[in-house]
Amino acid sequence: METKVRTAFNRHFNTEGTLYASAGRINLIGEHTDYNGGFVFPGAVDCGITAMIRPNGTDRVRACAIDLDDFAEFGLREEDKPAASWARYIFGVCREICKRGGKIGGFDTAFSGDVPLGAGMSSSAALESAFAFGLNDLFDLHIDKFELARIGQATEHNYCGVKCGIMDQFASIFGRKGNLMRLDCRSMEFEYFPFDPQGYRLVLLDTVVKHELVGSPYNDRRASCERVARTLGQEFLRGATMAQLDAVRERISEEDYRRARYVIGEERRVLDVCDALQRGDYATVGARMYETHDGLSKDYEVSCEELDFLVDTARACNVTGARMMGGGFGGCTINLVADNDYDHFIATATQRFAERFGHAPKVYPVVISDGAHKIG
Ligand code: GLA
Repeated sequence: METKVRTAFNRHFNTEGTLYASAGRINLIGEHTDYNGGFVFPGAVDCGITAMIRPNGTDRVRACAIDLDDFAEFGLREEDKPAASWARYIFGVCREICKRGGKIGGFDTAFSGDVPLGAGMSSSAALESAFAFGLNDLFDLHIDKFELARIGQATEHNYCGVKCGIMDQFASIFGRKGNLMRLDCRSMEFEYFPFDPQGYRLVLLDTVVKHELVGSPYNDRRASCERVARTLGQEFLRGATMAQLDAVRERISEEDYRRARYVIGEERRVLDVCDALQRGDYATVGARMYETHDGLSKDYEVSCEELDFLVDTARACNVTGARMMGGGFGGCTINLVADNDYDHFIATATQRFAERFGHAPKVYPVVISDGAHKIG
């Protein structure tokens, strides 16, 4: 990937720049909790975005999206928003840096990525992080890492229409090889958890379907949670109990009730999984993953037929834990599989899924890797 980016940059701009890399992410558990002030448990993975960047001394950005074979040029003012959706991520990062008082100039860039698109592995956060991290370094801005993550998040909110939480950008920036991270999205305190499950593997199965999301079903879930939090007189759903929720049940819709019930349950499950991991108790980790899936599917309603099918197949194969991962409506399941069950599970899931849906799921073994960094 480095060579590809270097070559493309050279072809377009006839010179060399600095290379930066950032990562996609997985999330072991703690889904749709980040914007509720809750806990998430992600890690960066070994696929991401590689970007070469070079300040060009003008006030224009010239950007080449190698994989799309597309090129965009735009200025740095609010009214310069580019038409191409991929370029808006870069533009948004620039604008959010400017809004924070960061002084950046124009630059030339070429980038390429290998995060599967629409798989729920945060290809967009990887793109934002690569540029937030790279521009911070090149223009000597001294923005701290949390703010870099917030710049990516604000880009989604203000330029891409998704009112996402902080998990993806956090993971993409803070990721560390071999470690998951438990982040408290209310206090923003986090802890690295070395993750080396003896006798087990994590594997993603990608349904390769993406049901229409375009911000709204996601934003709609978030709005439900905020309504219930307000009814409870709280800033976030985080910390609310089932007893409190039941006490306001008459005042909220049945749909909001179910959504809040999922979120409240998920808080405990993340903490349980962290404790269980420290004891090496993978049976509990897996059991919680299945519970999360059931909540996401039945109460939160962000799963789909293909994801449910893969999780049911995992259950039928006695896989230790499985659930849909990320925002939902398509994308991947994450599976915690004992070494002995691995081959059988992958073969069975592939065959049954293909019989049912006409195409095989893609299989991505998980390698927990470093987040955003300079290659040089
Ligand atoms: C998307 C969002 C995240 C998070 C997850 C669900 O990936 O970008 O902020 O809310 O969905 O956990």
